[in-house]
Amino acid sequence: MIKRFIYGNPFNTEAVIKELPIENDTPKYGKLDLSEGFTYTYDMKDDIVFGLGENIRGINKRGYRYVSNCTDDAVHTEDKVSLYGAHNFIIILGEKTFGLFFDTPQKIAFDIGYTRQNELKVTMPEKDVNLYYIEGNSLNDIVKEFRQLIGRSYIPPYWAFGYQQSRWGYRNEEDVRKVLDEYRKNEIPLDAIYLDIDYMKDYKDFTVDTDKFPDFEKLVSDMKKEGIRLVPIIDAGVKIEDGYNVYEEGVAKNYFCKREDGTDFVAGVWPGRTHFPDFLNEDAREWFGEQYKFLLDKGIEGFWNDMNEPAIFYSDEGLSEAFSKIEEYKEDKLDVNSYFEFQNLVKGLLNNPDDYKRFYHNVDGEMICHDKLHNLYGYNMTRAAGEAFERLVPEKRILMFSRSSYIGMHRYGGIWTGDNNSWWSHLLLNIKMMPSLNMCGFLYSGADIGGFGCNTTRDLVLRWLAFGIFTPLMRNHSCSIRPQECYQFEQTVDFKNIIDLRYRLIPYIYSEYMKAVLNDEMYFRPLAFDYPSDSFAIHVEDQLMVGEGMMVTPVYEQNAIGRYVYLPEDMLKVKVKGGKLTEEILQKGHHHIDISLDEVVFFIKKNHLIPICEPALNTEKLDTNNLTLIGYVDDSVSYKLYHDDGMSKDYDRKDNMINIQVENDTVISDCDNINFNLKIKREI
Ligand code: GLC
Repeated sequence: MIKRFIYGNPFNTEAVIKELPIENDTPKYGKLDLSEGFTYTYDMKDDIVFGLGENIRGINKRGYRYVSNCTDDAVHTEDKVSLYGAHNFIIILGEKTFGLFFDTPQKIAFDIGYTRQNELKVTMPEKDVNLYYIEGNSLNDIVKEFRQLIGRSYIPPYWAFGYQQSRWGYRNEEDVRKVLDEYRKNEIPLDAIYLDIDYMKDYKDFTVDTDKFPDFEKLVSDMKKEGIRLVPIIDAGVKIEDGYNVYEEGVAKNYFCKREDGTDFVAGVWPGRTHFPDFLNEDAREWFGEQYKFLLDKGIEGFWNDMNEPAIFYSDEGLSEAFSKIEEYKEDKLDVNSYFEFQNLVKGLLNNPDDYKRFYHNVDGEMICHDKLHNLYGYNMTRAAGEAFERLVPEKRILMFSRSSYIGMHRYGGIWTGDNNSWWSHLLLNIKMMPSLNMCGFLYSGADIGGFGCNTTRDLVLRWLAFGIFTPLMRNHSCSIRPQECYQFEQTVDFKNIIDLRYRLIPYIYSEYMKAVLNDEMYFRPLAFDYPSDSFAIHVEDQLMVGEGMMVTPVYEQNAIGRYVYLPEDMLKVKVKGGKLTEEILQKGHHHIDISLDEVVFFIKKNHLIPICEPALNTEKLDTNNLTLIGYVDDSVSYKLYHDDGMSKDYDRKDNMINIQVENDTVISDCDNINFNLKIKREI
């Protein structure tokens, strides 16, 4: 049951797809105060608070304060309050269990027991908000209702479930070809190689530097013949340069964000001075979306949208203010205060909140300050692309994910979790963030495996891969001095074995992903969602349910030889080493599990099946017509396998969903093309 309340005059974010009647009372639980801005308070007892999507800290958000304010922050230590996305959905689990979605682009502060330990306080400067109150029979139910409200999540092409390699540092065609050669030499599977900003001519969107990539189309097609997709980056800022068509067209059509005086706002980003396309303006959105055709026509089938918070290195105004301040300091001797002011002067140019007050969007003819709509910018950049793909290549799935996002964007693309670091704590953050993202509809997501910033280590990459094999987006990306591709480390066979396992699990991962999308469910769930009455399980923060029948227990500590694991029921432990699976049934309770660097362990719930196949060098070569069903079964058991061509969009076709039934030791299915081999354990 969902109830909608409206306060003030909220901006229509288009996050939701259902028009619900407006209630004239207030949400059943909690108190509202609209005397100054908007404040919602709720007295917590033993409650757990889930949600907030892309954010720092735990699965249970209690004990800290978070601010929805899309921020480019490459150093997201745990003292930060905002990351790249704004996902204003929370679920409170306690005496009363309910969900709340605050639909407004404003900066919202979620004080979840930070100021007062038992008080949940949600505040925003203006009272303009669409508030949705959601009740359900369970946590899973509440999420499902919410997800039905916001619409079906994005579905990528099948190849995007393969392993992908990226680096900010591939300078030219030769570098790109070398990545594939090395992966092949080491027999490590691979489905995509990413092109970071260096493929562009002077960092101009929708250009290719032909000095570095003399025959881009041939490269794209040579790669595709090998089963590899090239995935170029697109940045929000459009370089100011005479003769550059995207810039000139954008200026001529008034499609860039304007200053108050009507001139085009200037922001410094990678290309130097740029203009920001006005993605909140429908015509500008359509125009920008059309630009992707330039690369689609060259055979490109996937993109990542970046710098779309938007990130601003400096503005013209900010720069001139800083320079004149520096002149003043020249005259003065720096004292203890002015010294620090002086020091922060240049640092403070980056993503300066004042800059967000300096430009405007044209929303249906009304000029609205960016500051008021900030959290919707990345969402609408990705929407521009998603809507354009529907027009340009309606029959095809295009890979698309973004750095910045707001709920609603999940219909057009996935997200990656931005610039993390090669820190063990960021591997743990990745684990904790995944289910929160799923609650908010972002299913196709993953972190930069191995860590984007800082030099990584072999063990960190292996452990991160061992978790990354379960994330729908599985991409290794970095900018560090130390190279991070799997073949850069000793004993590459360990990397191969872990990535092979990803490919073996793709029948399960893809099926569970598709079912989660089609049924508005979560692919990653906290244990609390499956075992709400298990008082230990509801607090577990470092184990996740994956799909209907699997639990993962990643190792995220340096030099660990294994870890403690909590089993909320008897389960089948599957240990994978050197391509060999060893199964053992373990009883409910606590266990220490040895997991060495070259091993992966996952668990299967009783009376559930996991379909696996043989590994292959890429998804195209996977033989998904010969599957082995593994599990721990003491009864008859069934599984629904989602099986389609992975390219077309007829997702709801009845025969895409194959029913598998295991009775005694026979497999019965309604699909004759797939052979099933049964490998189940029956008892302890
Ligand atoms: C941003 C992105 C990162 C990318 C870099 C250069 O920092 O988050 O992934 O490599 O820009 O384009």
